[in-house]
Amino acid sequence: MRIVLLGAPGSGKGTQSQRLVERFRIPQVSTGDLLRAAVARGTALGMQAKDAMDAGRLVADEIVLDMIRERLGEPDTRKGFILDGFPRNLAQARALDGLLAQIGQPLDAVLQMNVDYAELSRRIAGRRTCSDCGWVVNLLTSASEVPEPQRCPKTGQPHRLIQRPDDNEATVAERLRVYEEQTRPLVDYYRRQGLLRSIDAEGDVATVSARVEQALSR
Ligand code: AP5
Repeated sequence: MRIVLLGAPGSGKGTQSQRLVERFRIPQVSTGDLLRAAVARGTALGMQAKDAMDAGRLVADEIVLDMIRERLGEPDTRKGFILDGFPRNLAQARALDGLLAQIGQPLDAVLQMNVDYAELSRRIAGRRTCSDCGWVVNLLTSASEVPEPQRCPKTGQPHRLIQRPDDNEATVAERLRVYEEQTRPLVDYYRRQGLLRSIDAEGDVATVSARVEQALSR
């Protein structure tokens, strides 16, 4: 199964990817996570990407495409993958088509996750991430799902919860603007290819997971 998850910031791409990883035993490929890891390691690529990420703009296509080429060349992606946050504009989508045609692995589905803007803002405002293991929780929408006791698998200590630097109000507004301007056109792009499946991604995580599963089995 080769899937793209398409949706605005906070629509639940990362959350649903995790569930699809368990369901299909295929890896999640998140360009946001790959970029954040490069920033954290202080690599040259990370330094180049950081300014754009902090401002809520897209990182240059060449950087992201190099990362994707390398990642999709790894053996664990041969049985399938979930692309989370990629592609983000038409140039990236066309480059992906070319790359997948070369390796004979076309996409099976593109899942568009629709969430109202007020709910997106609420989810993003409440999101916290463990700075050691990357575990994501939400203080506003899923506080009751937080397992007790909270232990980080990397440190054995309680999770160190931080807010992502790009989850502040000004940057979120820019990320949403960029989504509308550059990423939303992909909906038509993939609809024309017959790959698009749209779901209502509001409601609790389990309800959305059930809709994802239903859409993918169509
Ligand atoms: P990226 O990391 O991809 O961020 P994003 O697309 O803005 O998406 P988010 O991670 O904010 O949200 P999500 O949809 O994954 O939601 P989540 O599941 O976490 O990109 C960050 C930056 O990197 C970009 O701005 C750009 O600069 C750069 N970048 C990345 N990819 C790039 C590319 N291809 N090209 C160029 N630049 C790129 O959920 C959000 C919160 O809501 C969580 O707390 C979660 O617990 C909660 N939640 C999830 N589902 C539900 C639910 N059903 N009900 C209640 N709460 C829920």
